[in-house]
Amino acid sequence: MLVDDDLSTKGKCSYIKIRQMEIDDLPVVFHLGERLFSAEEAPNLYRTWDQYEVVDLFNADSEFCLVAELDDRIIGFALGTTVTKSRSAWKYGYLIWLGVEPSHHRSGVAQRLFNRFKDLMLKTGVRMLLVDTEAENLAALHFFRKQGFGNPQQHIYLSMNLAALQQSLKRKQNGESSDHRIRKNHS
Ligand SMILES: CC(C)(COP(=O)(O)OP(=O)(O)OC[C@H]1O[C@@H](n2cnc3c(N)ncnc32)[C@H](O)[C@@H]1OP(=O)(O)O)[C@@H](O)C(=O)NCCC(=O)NCCS
Repeated sequence: MLVDDDLSTKGKCSYIKIRQMEIDDLPVVFHLGERLFSAEEAPNLYRTWDQYEVVDLFNADSEFCLVAELDDRIIGFALGTTVTKSRSAWKYGYLIWLGVEPSHHRSGVAQRLFNRFKDLMLKTGVRMLLVDTEAENLAALHFFRKQGFGNPQQHIYLSMNLAALQQSLKRKQNGESSDHRIRKNHS
């Protein structure tokens, strides 16, 4: 297991340890993410953050799933993956989720997580790192810019509400099953 001990983070006299995520960490990471990616703060992230996201990334790329631990408590995480294209020598690293417990913001925790993530990416032969976030997420944008990310490309999210269609599908299914019962009773 990779462990990185650092005596101080911006003057805090506590140990902050960056290490690989383990199976027992999954619920803690999931619930921390639930608090960070709320519907009010980050609607798009809120829609895509769920327990499968954490489980799937852990299954697929556990070596690229990191946590920050302070006094045996998880206060941050970085979850990522790599992408290889069949006709390209380039390997991309994608930092999909990054989050830090709000009471520890601006203490350099994300910085430490990112440094470790970047080291892992370099070691695995990645030539370009990708991140994305909402345009209004100024904290994340400042953070990523500070790390050296640039060349922002616009990406528009569209949504379609299927609630009405769901209702009519349900009505249709209920109607069909009662029709079916009626036909059965008559025969
Ligand atoms: C973005 C986030 C991960 C940053 O975590 P953090 O641990 O507070 O960041 P750090 O303390 O390592 O910050 C490093 C640098 O990034 C920049 N930065 C971070 N947060 C910032 C903010 N709110 N405003 C301006 N700059 C900020 C600063 O330059 C900071 O250095 P400084 O404190 O010396 O000025 C954190 O705000 C968070 O968890 N947000 C909610 C989840 C999220 O939006 N994740 C990103 C998309 S998946």
